[in-house]
Amino acid sequence: MRILITNIKKLLHTYTKDNSPLVLKGAAMNQLPSIENAYLIIENDVIHAYGAMGNLNTEQTADKTIDAKQGIVMPAWIDSHTHLVHAATREEEFAMRIAGVSYEEIAAKGGGILNSAAKLQATSEDDLFDKSLARLYAAKNLGTGIIEIKSGYGLSVDAEIKMLRVIKRLQAEKVMPIKATFLGAHAYPVEFKNNHQGYIDMICKKMIPQIAAEGLAEYIDAFCERGFFSVEETSAILECGIAHGLKPKIHANQLHNSGGVQCGVKYNAISVDHLESMDTPEVECLLQSNTMPVLLPGAAFFLAMHYQPARMLIDAGLPVALASDYNPGSCPSFNMNFVTSLACTQMKMTTAEAINACTINAAAALEMSAEYGTITVGKKANLIITKPIDNEALLPYWYGESLVREVIN
Ligand code: NIG
Ligand code: FE
Repeated sequence: MRILITNIKKLLHTYTKDNSPLVLKGAAMNQLPSIENAYLIIENDVIHAYGAMGNLNTEQTADKTIDAKQGIVMPAWIDSHTHLVHAATREEEFAMRIAGVSYEEIAAKGGGILNSAAKLQATSEDDLFDKSLARLYAAKNLGTGIIEIKSGYGLSVDAEIKMLRVIKRLQAEKVMPIKATFLGAHAYPVEFKNNHQGYIDMICKKMIPQIAAEGLAEYIDAFCERGFFSVEETSAILECGIAHGLKPKIHANQLHNSGGVQCGVKYNAISVDHLESMDTPEVECLLQSNTMPVLLPGAAFFLAMHYQPARMLIDAGLPVALASDYNPGSCPSFNMNFVTSLACTQMKMTTAEAINACTINAAAALEMSAEYGTITVGKKANLIITKPIDNEALLPYWYGESLVREVIN
């Protein structure tokens, strides 16, 4: 099947096969090569050719022609960190936080992740699947073309496996490529509050072997944070996951400088995510690694916390990826366009840096940048066609609008 897209106002993120980057770091994050007034040809879901409209061979045939009507065409958003599978919203905690109770205090009183786990344990797999599938389509409507989804609201062998099976069923729907992450180490269940080793044993001896045997996840995550999983506890869990073929991507340095960055780097984590609390040693540590820093400004926004120090990281020469962290507690939004707006307004990233952080670097955070994240011949066609707009700066600028006309993937 050959699709020809014509009348593209601006084709964004264009690279030749030879100069197509796998990741953009530091000053290079500000580059965003593009072609004005362009066409693009897709053949069997792969980018086949592109160029200026003036160079389009008028005898070019296609099974389908899409008139972009002066919209921008660009790689679809890649959301490398979500908790899309969950049972219910938590607006009662939202009200508590407005009244002055902190996210940590709510969690310490058995709310937060434990609240979500109780609700998920009482929800059937089919019900979870239906809710999650509807959210997946809604995320796609906002321009997301690839997504990562974590478990972590099960916190028992059966419920964690249930979540991962839901993710597997979502993958089979082929709405978009999905990567699965096991996050059994999200919080200690009440019955293990004073027996951390007991829960770690359950994760390592029961959950991880079964997940590996059934091929239910590719990555292993842990919430490395004061009041959740210490560096030592996180290390034990990551070591077990790695021994079973899972690759680390961890929650680090959200509420405190938890040592999570150093812990992730020590285990060659593909990414360390959150990073609200960062200092020079953490930046130095990341500079010595291939670990991607993933910033989640939507969580900082919703929890009214300070934002991640994106400028400090980029100016030090690091790459940065952005993701939504979509979840019912700290960020009930999967709107990646709003993430770019937060990145620009609150973290002082440029439009180009924000777009790179949500495309090619986000692909790198999922080990997919050889196939996705730029407009390059031979890469998979996973694209957004926007409504007619003059330039990409309008994406973060119009933070309350969806400028997405169509997602092709
Ligand atoms: O990434 N920080 C840990 N986990 C999620 C939120 C979990 C929740 O509150 O349900 C996050 O923000
Ligand atoms: Fe998260």
